[in-house]
Amino acid sequence: MLTHWRFLRRYLDKPQMVGAVAPSSSALAAALCEPYARCRHPARVLEVGAGTGAITRHLGTLLKPTDELDVCEIDPVFAGLLEREVLGGAPLAPAVAQGRVRLLCMPVQDIAAVGHYDFVVSGLPLTAFPLRAVHDVLTVIRHCLKPGGVFSYFEYVGLRRVVRTLALGEERRRIRYVSEYLNRQIRKYQFAERTVLPNVPPARARYLRFTAAPTMTTS
Ligand SMILES: C[S@@+](CC[C@H](N)C(=O)[O-])C[C@H]1O[C@@H](n2cnc3c(N)ncnc32)[C@H](O)[C@@H]1O
Repeated sequence: MLTHWRFLRRYLDKPQMVGAVAPSSSALAAALCEPYARCRHPARVLEVGAGTGAITRHLGTLLKPTDELDVCEIDPVFAGLLEREVLGGAPLAPAVAQGRVRLLCMPVQDIAAVGHYDFVVSGLPLTAFPLRAVHDVLTVIRHCLKPGGVFSYFEYVGLRRVVRTLALGEERRRIRYVSEYLNRQIRKYQFAERTVLPNVPPARARYLRFTAAPTMTTS
């Protein structure tokens, strides 16, 4: 409950950056991590927009001794909380000590790790961002992923339509452009989606693959 309260306070301070009034539910965290949960080989995972750690905690239950996790969060207040209360405790602390889990307190746009990750799991409020930021974030994520790597993110069900209906002027134009851009990415790259009702508000997890997985060649 304390986490929810701190999350809400941060939203009231910086609504566009936080983009949600409550942390993701455990059902949404599990849905976003599903492709990684099914992975049977050593994997590198990047979480972006970790906030108070709702998804990080779930990733901690899935992380195998052969895996690595980078946790990216732009806000130093949330980053401090993650370090103390999520990365500093079970089950992640041993992996942090081994250097397999790292906290990156920076904007995701500054990550320069080309072709490094098998999975990128996002809690970013993409639909609250300006179009330029959405484009920059997706470009970086796309470059960070290995061929065949999977990007998972969520949107609140119906939120884009509600904002388009109620917003005026510049905000209405922003959500129209962001919506058109996201729809193009979804049409081109989405291979699955899942609606998660036990979340406030209900959410849709989307799974995108920007490039095909490398094929095995036999000689
Ligand atoms: C909707 S909250 C999600 C928090 C948590 N992952 C969850 O699902 O409950 C979005 C988080 O993204 C962070 N964020 C926003 N813009 C970011 C950026 N450019 N790079 C990294 N993190 C960012 C915010 O500070 C906030 O903690």
